[in-house]
Amino acid sequence: MNESTKLFKEEVLNGLRNNPKTLSSKYFYDDEGSRIFQEIMDMPEYYLPAAESEIIQTHSEAIAKRINRSQLDIIELGAGDGRKMVHFVQVLSQHIPDLSYFPLDISSGILKANEKLIRQEVPSVNFSGYAGDYFKTLHRLRQRTNPRLIVFAGSNIGNFRGERAVDFLKFIKNEMKAGDFFILGVDLKKNPKKILPAYNDAQGITKRFNLNLLTRINRELEGNFELKSFDHYATYHPITGAAESFLISLKAQKVTIGNELIEFKKDEVIQTEISQKYDRALLDELAKSAGISLDSWYTDSEGLFAWVLFGV
Ligand code: AVI
Repeated sequence: MNESTKLFKEEVLNGLRNNPKTLSSKYFYDDEGSRIFQEIMDMPEYYLPAAESEIIQTHSEAIAKRINRSQLDIIELGAGDGRKMVHFVQVLSQHIPDLSYFPLDISSGILKANEKLIRQEVPSVNFSGYAGDYFKTLHRLRQRTNPRLIVFAGSNIGNFRGERAVDFLKFIKNEMKAGDFFILGVDLKKNPKKILPAYNDAQGITKRFNLNLLTRINRELEGNFELKSFDHYATYHPITGAAESFLISLKAQKVTIGNELIEFKKDEVIQTEISQKYDRALLDELAKSAGISLDSWYTDSEGLFAWVLFGV
């Protein structure tokens, strides 16, 4: 068993021995999970990608003017294939003569697709992709002296629970010098009836996404979860802004993972994911705890999603 599988097993067993039982959503994204997530992004109920794209189309010009630099390194964490950012990079390149774009992603394959797209659409930009865990890869860019714009889009911050969101922002702040900027993509609090179906779609795609975590445990950790004995359950709390996903055990059952036995009561739940929704007050609080300052705020026409620009 390699080191990352050992760590996966340790976290899974610790989580399943907790009360309530938990599994971390960071393990959703094996090949199949990443593929199902692409399906989620195309679902009519999952409004987030369209709202974020509208922000990029509408506000890239204003963001470029606000940043107003002649040199800039855009460093994007969890960049993916670059489809979402290409317009933004293009607009910034029209304002900033010495522009670099450094996408960071766990997958080297997806960075190749990113490179192809950016080199084709914005040939003037200096491009270099960095594969690996961004907590580790970001330091490789530290020797550069250009002003930076760090981007963490796609509402990924929403998947960090409470203190971890603050710790993440503190980590970003440590990577910033005076005059640098940070853009955070956040999903906003809104009518709960709009939010809940995004995590409980009619076709059951999100259910497959959630259950795939058990399939992954079965395959990689010699588990024997019986998928039909678990169901998907999603909630949204309009006051706290937390959308949460669970797996419910449909009967009393025993599951083994390697040599370890885990018992489930009938209707016992496993917490698998939080997707936190924000408003201005929550963001101000987050920024204050991390010691960064909220500079400007850009939203789509329906006010569903926001790109928040921070400075130090
Ligand atoms: C990746 N992340 C921002 C998604 C979200 O909305 O929390 C993951 C997701 N989970 C269920 N649907 C989408």
